[in-house]
Amino acid sequence: MKHINTHMKRILFFLAAVCLSAVANSKTLVAYYSYTGNCEAIVAELTKHISADVVEIEPAEKGLKYEANGYALGTQLLNAINDAPNDAASYPAIDPVNVSMSDYSTIIIVTPLWWSQMAAIMQTFLFNYGPQMAGKNIGLIVSSASSSISRLVADCKRLVPQGNYLSENLWINNSNRHNLQSLITDWVSTCGLEEKETTININIIVGNQTFAATIQDTPTGRAFLSLLPLTINMSELNGNEKYYYLNSSLPTDTYKPGTIQSGDLMLYQNDCLVLFYKTFNSSYSYTRIGSVTDPSGLALALGTGNVTVRFETASTLTEDISTAISSGVAEKIFRNGQVYIIRNGKTYTLNGTEL
Ligand SMILES: Cc1cc2nc3c(=O)[nH]c(=O)nc-3n(C[C@H](O)[C@H](O)[C@H](O)COP(=O)(O)O)c2cc1C
Repeated sequence: MKHINTHMKRILFFLAAVCLSAVANSKTLVAYYSYTGNCEAIVAELTKHISADVVEIEPAEKGLKYEANGYALGTQLLNAINDAPNDAASYPAIDPVNVSMSDYSTIIIVTPLWWSQMAAIMQTFLFNYGPQMAGKNIGLIVSSASSSISRLVADCKRLVPQGNYLSENLWINNSNRHNLQSLITDWVSTCGLEEKETTININIIVGNQTFAATIQDTPTGRAFLSLLPLTINMSELNGNEKYYYLNSSLPTDTYKPGTIQSGDLMLYQNDCLVLFYKTFNSSYSYTRIGSVTDPSGLALALGTGNVTVRFETASTLTEDISTAISSGVAEKIFRNGQVYIIRNGKTYTLNGTEL
């Protein structure tokens, strides 16, 4: 017995040590370089969705015009790297970076593309720190005007060869940039990154069944919340959705989700509320509003015909306030019986109007 106790203690001690080290290095670092501000905007959106420390990589020499004279300087910097990629002297100097890589399990690199390659300044950072990123989860978000990113991905793998790359890289360019928010939402979810709590709980009531759902803290989500409580007769369509045309239009941020999940609550065009009760592939565009937390039983409850559905804010709304405060993203407050959102020191009504 004594022997077992000692053995158990050792195991417990070992487990505790493993847990502690997991906590110590479970953070996410976003490292970005931005010459004209696009990557900076990506990072601003990304950090609304995930908790991360952020480090900006800056060239030591300020005020250079990389695009001047037909992009001469940008090209020259890349040529120097291409000629001798293993030589530290080939890489343009950057300001000292104060990060301790051992604190992080995930590093997300956000970089512009230059001549189909990784911008030279970011290459310097990865040349210096790449070896310390071995075994860590590596996410890559690339901003270009239009060029595809395969050569840049190869640069990243050359500089961080031992990285454990996330399942997808995110490519943002001039034609999809207007969908930044949806692109980031989907990428964060596809890669299994932990989402910051930025949702608001509601209940969807069908007959005598209540389904918990979350609404996104977006202009569309907030506008939808301002309509609650809402009891509507939703029409059946295609054996996979119930829809209802609202009396007013909501803000849109349309994208093509590809796969619709059972329980997705979407806006079709700008005024059609759609509640899906099947998972299937779709080629249509929607704006995401939210989703049912556990859609099992939803299809059965909604049935095969038109159905009355009630949407109401969940009685647990006060719990959201503490979550929002602790995550530091947004804060919901009650004032005179109304709910307001506070974000970055500004107060908004639920339909997104700034006070
Ligand atoms: C030196 C240089 C070279 C570039 N080369 C390309 C290119 O080959 N293909 C492309 O689509 N965009 C190219 N761009 C455009 C940038 O990739 C794009 O504007 C990106 O969004 C910039 O991000 P930033 O605003 O964070 O710096 C280049 C930009 C610069 C400054």
